Amino acid sequence: MANTILVGAQWGDEGKGKIIDFLTEKADIVVRSQGGNNAGHTVICGSTKYVLHLIPSGILRAGKACVIGNGVVIDPVALCSEIEGLREKGVEVGANLFISDCAHLVFPYHKVLDEHRDLKKGSGKIGTTKRGIGPAYGDKAARTGMRMSDLVQPELFSSKLKARLEENNSILKALGEERIDFGEVNAAYLRAGALLAPMVTNTVVYLHQALKEGREVLFEGAQGTFLDLDHGTYPYVTSSNTTAGGACTGSGVPPHRMDRVLGVMKAYTTRVGEGPFPTENEAFGGRLHAMGREFGATTGRARRCGWFDAVATRYSAMINGIDELAVTNLDGLDQLDSISICTAYTNRGRTLEVPPSDARQLAECEPVYMEMPGWKSSTEDARKFGDLPPDARNYLEKIVSLTGAKLGIVSVGAHRDQTIVL
Ligand code: GDP
Ligand code: IMO
Ligand code: MG
Repeated sequence: MANTILVGAQWGDEGKGKIIDFLTEKADIVVRSQGGNNAGHTVICGSTKYVLHLIPSGILRAGKACVIGNGVVIDPVALCSEIEGLREKGVEVGANLFISDCAHLVFPYHKVLDEHRDLKKGSGKIGTTKRGIGPAYGDKAARTGMRMSDLVQPELFSSKLKARLEENNSILKALGEERIDFGEVNAAYLRAGALLAPMVTNTVVYLHQALKEGREVLFEGAQGTFLDLDHGTYPYVTSSNTTAGGACTGSGVPPHRMDRVLGVMKAYTTRVGEGPFPTENEAFGGRLHAMGREFGATTGRARRCGWFDAVATRYSAMINGIDELAVTNLDGLDQLDSISICTAYTNRGRTLEVPPSDARQLAECEPVYMEMPGWKSSTEDARKFGDLPPDARNYLEKIVSLTGAKLGIVSVGAHRDQTIVL
């Protein structure tokens, strides 16, 4: 396997964790390069379910190395409990995990500000995961952030934290929020820092050395294309670059070392949180929820559901340079009589082939649908493309041709073996 950037092609939760876990068998190193513990990547191994938030999903395969790159924002206390949780399940986390010394830290005041700002917005809220992601990236851009390299130098850390708390406590006071106690945060973060210190390193040098040795790297995108800070449905987005370019800036591996981009998408569309979603369909969502599907891996919220959107996915293929698609959750459509595909939008009397950049205009767009017959049978046991019912194959071929990428993988269940490679 060549060096691969894997991205979410929609609004997140496309099944990236499952596909990463599958591909890790042939990779040497798995890298997270953006986002934080707003991500929730589910991997099912045998009868055990894992939900990874900050640690790359590759950690579940023995002998593979994992990197949390410079572009990630880390809540070190949450990272320690994630490590602990994995160890309790028998997963080795230690010398196989490398954490960038440049990755920024998420603090309790980021979480309070995140929640406060979203509540204040009322009906215009983003519906964030409340993990402090926006304010932490805000501090990074404002150059008032603190990094992993600070965390592993206790004296320096404490003095910087004191100054940061002074400023942030005055902001919290003005907002009517409770002040945050220096002693408590300092102690908890230094404890986490001591635990993580052996893993903290210059991951850029580590990755370049590995590339020189011919090791193959898989970049695990978090969130999805339309949550990208620049290219998504702003302001209903996250605060990092979730598109393919983010893998370079967030890891220090240059573009010419990347060999292919794999876009992961569901056979339909989901979105969690607020913001425009042209193909949203409540009846379809109700059906999936009744099957116990489509509840968020991080916050447990019911995901909004809708039909496949060729306008959005084609744009996603363009921005990311998607070579191949991995289509997951095909089995979610197994029992439908008819399946809708959005081929264009109409807005203000015009037909649109590209999603408008303005979220308000996107929210006004009406999808133009074509209908395809359902296959009304289970795809869960299919292991080759030819095992799929003809109407399922037609559906996949249609969505792929509308998107302009090749079909690389089809997933028909959450388990490792429920994967078809083309
Ligand atoms: P991620 O954030 O992109 O890794 O996706 P999530 O883990 O948040 O959500 C995807 C959900 O779909 C998880 O519950 C997966 O176990 C599940 N999943 C992934 N692929 C398939 C599939 O092909 N079929 C079914 N039934 N579930 C899948
Ligand atoms: P994975 O990696 C789906 C959404 C939130 C909210 C918006 C901003 O599992 O696909 P944030 O907390 O990042 O400031 O929230 O982005 N969001 C996700 N939705 N999957 C995710 O990650 C998400 N991470 C953030 O619901 O709408
Ligand atoms: Mg998820």
